[in-house]
Amino acid sequence: MTYKIAVLSGDGIGPEIVKQARIVIEAVAKKFGHDFEFTEALVGAVAIEEVGDPYPAETHQLCMNSDAVLFGAIGHPRFDNDPSAKVRPEQGLLAMRKQLGLYANLRPVNTFKSLIHKSPLKTELVDGADFMCIRELTGGIYFGRPQGRTEDGKTAYDTCVYTADEIERIVRLGFEYAGKRRKKLTIVDKANVLASSRLWREVAQKIEPEFPDIEVEYMFVDNAAMQIITWPKRFDVMVTENMFGDILTDEASVISGSMGMLPSASIGIHTSVFEPIHGSYPQAAGKNIANPCATVLSAAMMFEYAFGMMDEGALIRKAVDESLEAGIVTEDIADGNKAYSTSEVGEWLTDFIQNA
Ligand code: IPM
Ligand code: MN
Repeated sequence: MTYKIAVLSGDGIGPEIVKQARIVIEAVAKKFGHDFEFTEALVGAVAIEEVGDPYPAETHQLCMNSDAVLFGAIGHPRFDNDPSAKVRPEQGLLAMRKQLGLYANLRPVNTFKSLIHKSPLKTELVDGADFMCIRELTGGIYFGRPQGRTEDGKTAYDTCVYTADEIERIVRLGFEYAGKRRKKLTIVDKANVLASSRLWREVAQKIEPEFPDIEVEYMFVDNAAMQIITWPKRFDVMVTENMFGDILTDEASVISGSMGMLPSASIGIHTSVFEPIHGSYPQAAGKNIANPCATVLSAAMMFEYAFGMMDEGALIRKAVDESLEAGIVTEDIADGNKAYSTSEVGEWLTDFIQNA
């Protein structure tokens, strides 16, 4: 069988890092005898430039017909400094999430032995930290309506909306993942203030008895923000709503020491999307200096989550670990030692996989 992969490289460093992930996927495919068909499509600022739409219908059709989507990054400073821009690259990402029904964003947080000294947190705090943050991705304040301004322009509003069904779907996933890991689930909310959070708790408490072997705790988001950096090892699986998850996962990314190392998977109704958690890093675009590892590790998640190919995913992880050990790293983690280019790292990983 041929697996169809949609390739959405997007903006900034997107094309460079996706290219490396792609050669790694091809090396794995060759090694294990799989067949992949890659098709590229536009997303983000480049899509606005070329067709006036950050998530064109053609791109959506391709994703719908694909077994998985490999995604680079979107965003361009031109839009960040222009609050009046009518169409923004980020709208493309949000439209893709909504239209593909990507309700669960999985962001693993862990450390890499040879990078542990890069973490701004004390080694004894982060060494061994390993948790999965599950962020709800198609609801909450990102999508709630009404959103906008009053006619005089002097008042603006956003709305946080969650239905019991949306909450149940993601909380169940949290319980299931906890069951496959260390059996501890932390449900993060702000139930002391928000009505939507109180519904989260109500729904979660109703599901709890179905998973008697999972230890559940409920935690307010402000407390969670503090515990992530003071005691990250206490977490196993964390599940939370869209915006809390956005903020907490950026915070958690400092545990590993480099944002350039962290992958993610967005699991959906129609297909799933694999992308690094970092952004488009426009200052580095075209310079062949960006760290491709987060995208390469996103490809590992693709093998595991989209295709159930665990050995293939494990080999990619091993290649990345070995490259770090060997010091074949980009400038963000080179620490004054020799920095390799994006493509040199990708080629090293590919060679490692071929010779494994
Ligand atoms: C992320 C990003 C996006 C988000 C932006 C680019 C819309 O920060 O994937 O975490 O807020 O979800
Ligand atoms: Mn974010």
